[in-house]
This record gives sequence, C-alpha cells and structure tokens, in this order.
Amino acid sequence: MAKGFFVTGTDTSVGKTTVSCALLRAFAAQGYRVAGMKPIAAGRENGQWQDVELLLAASNVNVTRKQINPYALEAPISPHLAAQQEDITIDLSLVNDCYRQLSMQADIVIVEGAGGFLVPLNDSQTGEDLAKILGLPVILVVGMRLGCLNHALLTTGAISAARLSLVGWIANCIQSPMVAVTENIATLEQRLQAPLLGILRFGEQTDGFIAMPKVLVR
Ligand SMILES: Nc1ncnc2c1ncn2[C@@H]1O[C@H](COP(=O)(O)OP(=O)(O)O)[C@@H](O)[C@H]1O
Ligand SMILES: [Mg+2]
Repeated sequence: MAKGFFVTGTDTSVGKTTVSCALLRAFAAQGYRVAGMKPIAAGRENGQWQDVELLLAASNVNVTRKQINPYALEAPISPHLAAQQEDITIDLSLVNDCYRQLSMQADIVIVEGAGGFLVPLNDSQTGEDLAKILGLPVILVVGMRLGCLNHALLTTGAISAARLSLVGWIANCIQSPMVAVTENIATLEQRLQAPLLGILRFGEQTDGFIAMPKVLVR
C-alpha cells in the first residue's frame, strides 16, 4: 500500500496543483513510484481538465485518467453545483475505490483536493469528508498573499477540528513581490502547530523541494 497525502489549500488557485506536481517530481527523483490524483475536477478548458493533465504528467506509473479523476465536471464552479448541473451526485466511496487501486500501483499517492478545505462536494459532504474517507494526512498549501494569514489559521483550525493530521504546510509565493512575505511566513511559522515543509518561490518549479521526500517518508 502506498503512502498518501491529501493536499489542500487556503483557497482555490493558491498552487495546490503546482505544489502537488513539485512533490510528485521530487519523490520520483528519489526513485519512488508516484501517482497524482485529482478525484474531483470542475471546469473543462480546451477539452481537458488541466489539473488532471498536469498530475498525470508528473506521475510515473501507468494510470488512467478515469482512475485519477473519477469526477470530471464541465462547469468551473463549486463541485456540488457543477455536479448538480449534470444530474450527478458525487459519491466519495467511488473516490475511495479509485484511491485504493492507485495505492496498489504506487509508493506515493498525492491527492489534490478541490478548492479549499471545506468546499461542498454534495448535499452533505465537503473536502473534509474526502480527506477523512481516504484517511490521509494533510499538507496545506498557503498561497502567500494578503489575507492568507486568516485563511491559513481558519483552515488549520478546521483540519484539527476534523481530527486529521496536518503533516505540514508549504508557503507558495504566488505573487512577486508580496509585501512583507518573509514576515508573513514567520508569523505562520510561529502560529501554526505543524512544520513549514518548504517554500516555493515565485516562478520556481521543483528545486526547493528536492529534500522533501526525506521529511515526509520516514
Ligand atoms: N510559485 C509559483 N510561482 C508562480 N506561479 C505560480 C506558483 N504557484 C502557482 N502558480 C500559478 O498560479 C496559478 C494557480 O496555481 P495552481 O497550482 O493551479 O493552483 P490550485 O491548484 O490551488 O488551483 C497557476 O497558473 C500556476 O501556474
Ligand atoms: Mg488545482
């Protein structure tokens, strides 16, 4: 069975896919068999779901799009609404089945959530339920921009209320320059219980992540 991680973010477009791919590449460079998963993707662009393509490209085991992405929804809106428009109800047990299959093929599976941690997925469940059903430790991507301190504290509060393990957080510098970025990172280091696993600088792909596998897989 693979070791898995659930990657969530302080918001949508904060770098969950970027960080997930960087992690997959870093693990692959260390010789691990890796698979990325985007169980629920909403928003087709040019005939494809970009996150799915990027995660597939960063994976090094033979997996199908259907396996890594059981729910590919057309509209670029919250998954529960996109699913409603297609008369689909997102069933997390199907996602879990796909995850179990993947975890037999890979050493490491990185599962990218949709949107932020509490994004609704159907009438009653959210991203929190997805992480719980998969039973995975969480990695939080903090998109470094004004407002991220509040979002990071709210999200880590929700992760801990869900009794999920937060293995660490990543500071993703999505703006260049962000005013007082160093001070913002230091503020989060002081206030978050989990360790800062790495800083992805603006425009950086993987380099800062090369040491990451050692920290996460002990
Ligand atoms: N460290 C970074 N430097 C520059 N651009 C970034 C960085 N991280 C993410 N981006 C860009 O920001 C956008 C959103 O990132 P993405 O990884 O797709 O976020 P999410 O998966 O959370 O929606 C993408 O266009 C991506 O290329
Ligand atoms: Mg994404």
